[in-house]
Amino acid sequence: MSELTMNKAKGQINVVLNSKNISHLVRDDRNEVINYEEHRVLKDIQKELDQLIGLDHVKKIIKEIYAWLYIDKVRKENGLKSNKQALHMIFKGNPGTGKTTVARLLGKLFFEMNVLSKGHFIEAERADLVGEYIGHTANKTRDLIKKARGGILFIDEAYSLARGGEKDFGKEAIDTLVKGMEDYCDDLVVILAGYPKEMDYFLSLNPGLPSRFPLTIEFPDYTVDELVKIAKQMLREREYEFTPEAERKLHDHIEEMLEEKQYGKFSNGRYVRNLIEKAIRKQAVRLLHEGRYDKKELTLIRGRDLIVGM
Ligand SMILES: Nc1ncnc2c1ncn2[C@@H]1O[C@H](COP(=O)(O)OP(=O)(O)O)[C@@H](O)[C@H]1O
Ligand SMILES: [Mg+2]
Repeated sequence: MSELTMNKAKGQINVVLNSKNISHLVRDDRNEVINYEEHRVLKDIQKELDQLIGLDHVKKIIKEIYAWLYIDKVRKENGLKSNKQALHMIFKGNPGTGKTTVARLLGKLFFEMNVLSKGHFIEAERADLVGEYIGHTANKTRDLIKKARGGILFIDEAYSLARGGEKDFGKEAIDTLVKGMEDYCDDLVVILAGYPKEMDYFLSLNPGLPSRFPLTIEFPDYTVDELVKIAKQMLREREYEFTPEAERKLHDHIEEMLEEKQYGKFSNGRYVRNLIEKAIRKQAVRLLHEGRYDKKELTLIRGRDLIVGM
């Protein structure tokens, strides 16, 4: 059994033949061996990523970012040139596809890796950056950047900054943002998020922006099976479960929604979460009426608790 270890003190990468102490070596999803004792930060973050259904390529990109940061650190320790780049990102995806959830996790990862001094997460939208009169916007945006310094500034529906055309203060917000990204380049990660098409259009209107956001992560819509898994997991976390009938009903309903492409109404994980929360309230009323309070029944979401089609 060969073991890959990295000797930080000496800055060498050694392949050690060792069959005794391999309990900390785990094969990851791509069947690659990783020394998780050395890479505890990666292990912790992967554990949290594992809670997320699907999103395989997002998980892969995060591992790449980790590897790249880690190797950059080891290179520096060896007196080699750093390849440090900005970590600002574009997240493209429809609502409820996990963008906010993943951005929060990245804050944690970057904090653990000493890339960010605090790793906190600030979510903002147009109204948090754009003011109502001349001079207001630059101040507002600067304040927001100051608050986000040391962490992640996540700007949702970022394309709305370009909404009003040339005369709109959104332009001023973008310029101030770019300036702030330069001033605090060592300790701030900005993520612009939004619908794929709108983001592409927004970036095409602002040709200076794409190069400042070297990483783009796409969040595809979930499949029916993934959404059912997400629903089941959300229930499990709350100590509930579907009866087989309820699960089938949910599956068929989501399938129908996706076939009809009711994307206006459909918001992936968020839609499912709303359904679950409604079902839990509905179940409570049903149990009250039925006077059934045994432990098993308290955990069961039955078909009639699920209100689909509204
Ligand atoms: N892959 C996933 N696995 C489990 N739950 C998810 C997943 N993606 C999204 N969710 C859940 O769906 C809801 C919406 O996700 P969110 O990250 O807010 O989406 P977005 O920011 O893209 O609109 C949250 O409750 C989140 O926990
Ligand atoms: Mg969001």
